[in-house]
Amino acid sequence: MRVLKTIKELREYRKKIMGKVGFVATMGYLHKGHASLINAARKECSNVIVSIFVNPKQFGRNEDLDKYPRDIKRDIKLCKEAKVDCIFYPENKEMYPGDESTIVDVEKVTEALCGKFRPTHFRGVTTVVIKLFNIITPDIAYFGQKDLQQSVVIKKMTKDLNLNVEIRVCSIIREKDGLAMSSRNKYLNIEERAKAVTLYKSLTKARNAFKEGIRNVKELKTIIKKEVDKIIKKGIDQIQYIDIIDINSLKSVKKAKKGDAIAIAVFIGKTRLIDNIIL
Ligand code: PAF
Repeated sequence: MRVLKTIKELREYRKKIMGKVGFVATMGYLHKGHASLINAARKECSNVIVSIFVNPKQFGRNEDLDKYPRDIKRDIKLCKEAKVDCIFYPENKEMYPGDESTIVDVEKVTEALCGKFRPTHFRGVTTVVIKLFNIITPDIAYFGQKDLQQSVVIKKMTKDLNLNVEIRVCSIIREKDGLAMSSRNKYLNIEERAKAVTLYKSLTKARNAFKEGIRNVKELKTIIKKEVDKIIKKGIDQIQYIDIIDINSLKSVKKAKKGDAIAIAVFIGKTRLIDNIIL
């Protein structure tokens, strides 16, 4: 497995690959969710490239850029075990030399949900992802459904800008108790970790109610809110949003239907967790 740090090296490596290239973009601190994306790429592509880059442009001013977890040794080990062919591991100045004047900003689908609370986040994501696509020129890129809005935004950018890459969205990988895998789970202390499972619990409760015939959005949201409220300590934890949305437009629906998603974002202490479930 190669670990390449410069765009030039990566481009030279890429030129020599004949078969399909699968790409998994990450910010490192890899877990089983990333491994499942790598495995999906492995199945379809003869070459798998993983990028590891903590992208400063997608963090807001008061967000966790400096304390974002990093462990490159562990990441390299995981990638080797998952039979990754190449890691692209650029430094900040390689990706952002400091003289850039271009950002890629996808409109509308970035306005609701996380975009409402993290107004500069998605343009940071789309700018780095299009840069990575241009550097790596993958045939297929794999993203997780855990970041549902991100996957919709990237699909929209790919379509609108006629990017020559197929986007695959892979299912959420969960811990045994249902908590969606995320690098940020590392921030949770024991008490917070125990509370965190409530996100998934509340979503499944609402999905069960949907299966039993409840279509009223208010009713479904109340089921979730009631469950989450049990763990909310006033002044410490906070529900950011609970929404039932169409998975293409990300617009809130008036009446829930099969294929819609319930999405949730909650602060448990200082840690912001998101999750979603498809009805
Ligand atoms: O999902 C992530 O980890 C990041 O948003 C991504 C896609 C690697 C861009 O920095």
